[in-house]
Amino acid sequence: MFNASSKRFATKVPGTIDLEISDPVLMLNEVAKRYETAERVLMEYVDNALDDAEVLFRENGNAYPYPIRIDITINRANRAVIIQDNCRGMTRETLERVVRNIGESQKRGQTWVNGRFGFGVHAFRAAAESVSFQSKHELGSNHTLTLQRDQHRGIKEAKRLDAPFPTESGTGTVVTVAGFEADWFSPVTVDSVRAEIEHHFERLIARRNLQITVHEAGQATQVCTAIDYAAIEGAAIQEQLHLTYKDEEYPVTIYCKIAADASVKRPVSFFARDRRIGDVVEIKSFMRKSVFKTSVWSHPNLMGYIEVGNLVQPIINRDDFVRTYSRTLLYEALLPVEAEIKQQLQGVNQQQKEQTFDQFEQVVQRALAEVVTDSGLAVVLVADGEGRRVLVENGRLAINTAHPDFQERLRTTRQGNPRPSDRLNAYLAGILSIYGVHRLPGRNENLSADTQLDMQIEMMLALETQLRHLQNKSFKD
Ligand SMILES: Nc1ncnc2c1ncn2[C@@H]1O[C@H](COP(=O)(O)OP(=O)(O)OP(=O)(O)O)[C@@H](O)[C@H]1O
Ligand SMILES: [Mg+2]
Repeated sequence: MFNASSKRFATKVPGTIDLEISDPVLMLNEVAKRYETAERVLMEYVDNALDDAEVLFRENGNAYPYPIRIDITINRANRAVIIQDNCRGMTRETLERVVRNIGESQKRGQTWVNGRFGFGVHAFRAAAESVSFQSKHELGSNHTLTLQRDQHRGIKEAKRLDAPFPTESGTGTVVTVAGFEADWFSPVTVDSVRAEIEHHFERLIARRNLQITVHEAGQATQVCTAIDYAAIEGAAIQEQLHLTYKDEEYPVTIYCKIAADASVKRPVSFFARDRRIGDVVEIKSFMRKSVFKTSVWSHPNLMGYIEVGNLVQPIINRDDFVRTYSRTLLYEALLPVEAEIKQQLQGVNQQQKEQTFDQFEQVVQRALAEVVTDSGLAVVLVADGEGRRVLVENGRLAINTAHPDFQERLRTTRQGNPRPSDRLNAYLAGILSIYGVHRLPGRNENLSADTQLDMQIEMMLALETQLRHLQNKSFKD
């Protein structure tokens, strides 16, 4: 798409017009603005290393012929990140071609690798000043080439280096993205890069003989590890769809897990060729079609992946899918799966609802105990108060959660989980203060009506404050 300049000297056919890009730098920089984070920019370079490793993997009967290493170094002083691999490397010719022939990908049509646009190396333009390559192929020597973001002409050709290439295999590529803009770079840490890799390539890094590490000067090297879904307690939902598009069959793999413990955050993501596109909830085109939307795909207990293979193609910065009929087919095929997940989540939701009400009951009880130290009044939440708002039975104050007045004031989370509100607090404070003043034995004897009213107001306000305070502590998610 950007290869107009490569045809600059081609003979023109009389009576025809050729496309030309008057300012390729401006155009490339504008396209790169689609990237949202520095981590996502960096993934393009890791992606290229993994694509190169993939060729070795395939040629060797689906196993890496030697331990593949991709090492990422964060250099804070230069606001730079270095991505080094020990794969096949590039010859001088390839290296120069990569920089010169924009939008030309030798990988196009090869379904086993991810590259297809010939734009990935330009991702740095979103956030950094330059990209430098040092590469050594077994058929060539060690060469370097640097490209500045604002450079159009006069780019220095690849320069030969006498030093040996710094990997055991003697081949590979070192990419340095330097001069990151400060606000893009400041959130970049070993943890953030590692987290992105572990999620973005979670399906690839589980392979034997592939290691990706991240480190920053003066800090320990961290090895990226694959998530082991099987080891996570919970019910799994697995499906393999076979969708037919233009007479070809495309497999789509779905693996979702309803984790018993919601503390591991791994929202279900779309993957294409083992590379993460984005959380399902972030894919706007799918969310428009989805029936249960965030109540399923943002459920805190739901994790997993949807691998779409080659049925749909990512857009240039790989965070959504190109609009095609195959995309419609995919989304429609996912709706029954979504309904099944929703069904299975109901059980978890019910359990969580009960837990939340238990927690809520304790908060109300504690608030009362804080305000009326010797109340001795037990407060329980019941879902059947015979149509009454409150019942007193055997020294217990039973608040009916099924009453419309209670329900109207109760807020719920997206998953339908109850969440207290200020209105509900005021309602409870009102009820508790009435019962606190008028029903507690020995409280109101010999007091004038005015004093009793004052006591009630004070208790109501104190309870409302306490409820709010205790809930803030207890219901922070
Ligand atoms: N680490 C690397 N090892 C070997 N070759 C590389 C490496 N990085 C880049 N290349 C070469 O540079 C080319 C351009 O990379 P680039 O990411 O721009 O395009 P692509 O991977 O072909 O497609 P896409 O834009 O979809 O990523 C690649 O096709 C590959 O030939
Ligand atoms: Mg690429």
